[in-house]
Amino acid sequence: MRKTTLLFFIVIGLLSCNENKEMKKNRITTNDLMQKDDHSFSKPQEAVITHLEWDANVDFETKTIVAVAKFDIRKYPSTSEIILDTKNLQIEKVWRNQNDTVDFFLNKADEVLGQALHIPLSEDSKTISIQYKTSPNAEALQWLSAQQTAGNAPFLFTQSQAILCRSWIPIQDSPAIRFTYEAEVKVAEGNLAIMSAENPQEIDSTGNYSFKMRQPIPAYLMALAVGNLEFHKTGKQTGIYAEPATMAKAVTALEDLQSFLETAEKLYGKYRWEQFDVLVLPPSFPFGGMENPRLTFATPTILSGDKSLVSLIAHELAHSWSGNLVTNASWNDFWLNEGFTVYFEYRIMEEMYGKDYAEMLASISFKELTEESRELIENGNVKDTHLKLDLEGRNPDVGMTSIAYDKGYFFLRLLEEISGREAFDAFLQQYFKEYAFRSINTEQFLIYLEQNLFGKNEIVVPKKLFSDWVYGAGIPTSIPKPYSNRFKSVEESVQRWLDTGNIDTLNAEDWSTHEFLHFFHQLPDSLEYNHLSILDDKFDFTDSENAEILSEWFLLAIKKDYRRAFGAMENFLVNTGRKKFLMPIYGELIKRETHKRVALSIYRKARQNYHFVSYNSLDKLLNYTSD
Ligand code: BES
Ligand code: ZN
Repeated sequence: MRKTTLLFFIVIGLLSCNENKEMKKNRITTNDLMQKDDHSFSKPQEAVITHLEWDANVDFETKTIVAVAKFDIRKYPSTSEIILDTKNLQIEKVWRNQNDTVDFFLNKADEVLGQALHIPLSEDSKTISIQYKTSPNAEALQWLSAQQTAGNAPFLFTQSQAILCRSWIPIQDSPAIRFTYEAEVKVAEGNLAIMSAENPQEIDSTGNYSFKMRQPIPAYLMALAVGNLEFHKTGKQTGIYAEPATMAKAVTALEDLQSFLETAEKLYGKYRWEQFDVLVLPPSFPFGGMENPRLTFATPTILSGDKSLVSLIAHELAHSWSGNLVTNASWNDFWLNEGFTVYFEYRIMEEMYGKDYAEMLASISFKELTEESRELIENGNVKDTHLKLDLEGRNPDVGMTSIAYDKGYFFLRLLEEISGREAFDAFLQQYFKEYAFRSINTEQFLIYLEQNLFGKNEIVVPKKLFSDWVYGAGIPTSIPKPYSNRFKSVEESVQRWLDTGNIDTLNAEDWSTHEFLHFFHQLPDSLEYNHLSILDDKFDFTDSENAEILSEWFLLAIKKDYRRAFGAMENFLVNTGRKKFLMPIYGELIKRETHKRVALSIYRKARQNYHFVSYNSLDKLLNYTSD
């Protein structure tokens, strides 16, 4: 049993019995349960940053940012140094207070974590300033040439989660450390700069922009984008940033932003970040969405489907509570960010589109969880199926599996089923309020749950139930089973088609993207080339603009060697950088020698269009070494 698990049971034990005075004195407090962050060199128990003033110059020519980061710090009087995380940064000068230049020390580089920057402190040190330059290969930054964007103008965006902020700002890069910030950013004329902060809505002819973030955030939520961008207001507190060529489509897809926000507020309390805007990025963005506070970053691949793909926006919005407001203390507690967010996302979708709709999403989660859990176990990664992860020594991005998202979701759904929706909602509202702008780890959460959900409502739950979910392998038998009428009817349609051979019996006229995805998952292995041809004639899958449908279709096309789709597939792979689509398609291609050659030849062209997050994983998958 892990030490933390043991500690958890001791605490629960102590809390649940009648305490005498002596025991009270020795009681383990939640503070004792704070664990260290394996992915940051900083030592927050000695000195922490509390505020950042960032003064930066963004240069598209050299693909570098030249900047000064000045931090207000908090420390014990006797603390003799503060440690920041850096990766690939050229540190030029460090000083304390106004101009007290000091010798700093950079440790040797760790491949995943980068380098610790040690800055000596004296008793009166109130601020530290670091003058530095980023590398053109900084992992968080993607510099796009004019040809790689919709508007034919260069573009820069950052992706800081999980531990990449340190590649563009020397910082205490831990989700347990929060700070407020201000920034002055200079960019080339004609560009707009926006951040995870209060933002300008128009291009300034001087190229100088000022930002303020009043709410304290952890480093992984630092974000910047620069390009030829426009703003379109969609409601009182909501709007869209996009390149002019993308705006019309973006407005159509995202016109309901304000009602998403209001629905979320009704569920779990006031939105604490004032403004909620969405930036639609060029297609190389490596994720579907990223919950940068006040400014969610989103892939343009959600624009070309039906409106059902906006559940992704509901997800990123939900992070404004779970994740951004109440933050996982370390990446081992990632399920506290993502599991809660999936639960919240489905509740928003249920409010807006009905139970039937939300059950489709839950059914997809169920399938993904079942498959990924089985794969992890088969590959000997049993411990990666625990909700509480152990990512020490590894890149925390490996924790981005269905476990944190979907096992986390089903655990919370089970808690809802046990306690009843009313009590569970009241509990979550209180949780978001009490832990607002703080971090929490799994053990602290379990104690809070025990006291405030079960204790308060006098519900008795066997402790084993929690340990099975949080510290146990795979999928516990207590998992709630979602049921979708709409998916059931898709299954019947597929059967009818296969029985009659008549494609018109599919009745797919009203299918949403999710029903099409379920349709693909239902197709039997025995399907032949000829079937694909019939499907393609009927639904035009090869020419679909819906990235979710396309990626499932390409997987099928590769399996059946359906060459008619290969041209479109190449086009898709060269132009889309979203890792979730790329990994399975390349993964399927390399299964056969002839397809592997196709994969490598496409990858050679496409790699330059991908963000580090995507090519880092693809290089490994394809055994690719650049020459
Ligand atoms: N915060 C994540 C993205 C992330 C996770 C980036 C870990 C880096 C490390 C974001 O909220 C997310 O989960 N995005 C999903 C979409 C969602 C609908 C499941 C994605 O990008 O696919
Ligand atoms: Zn998320």
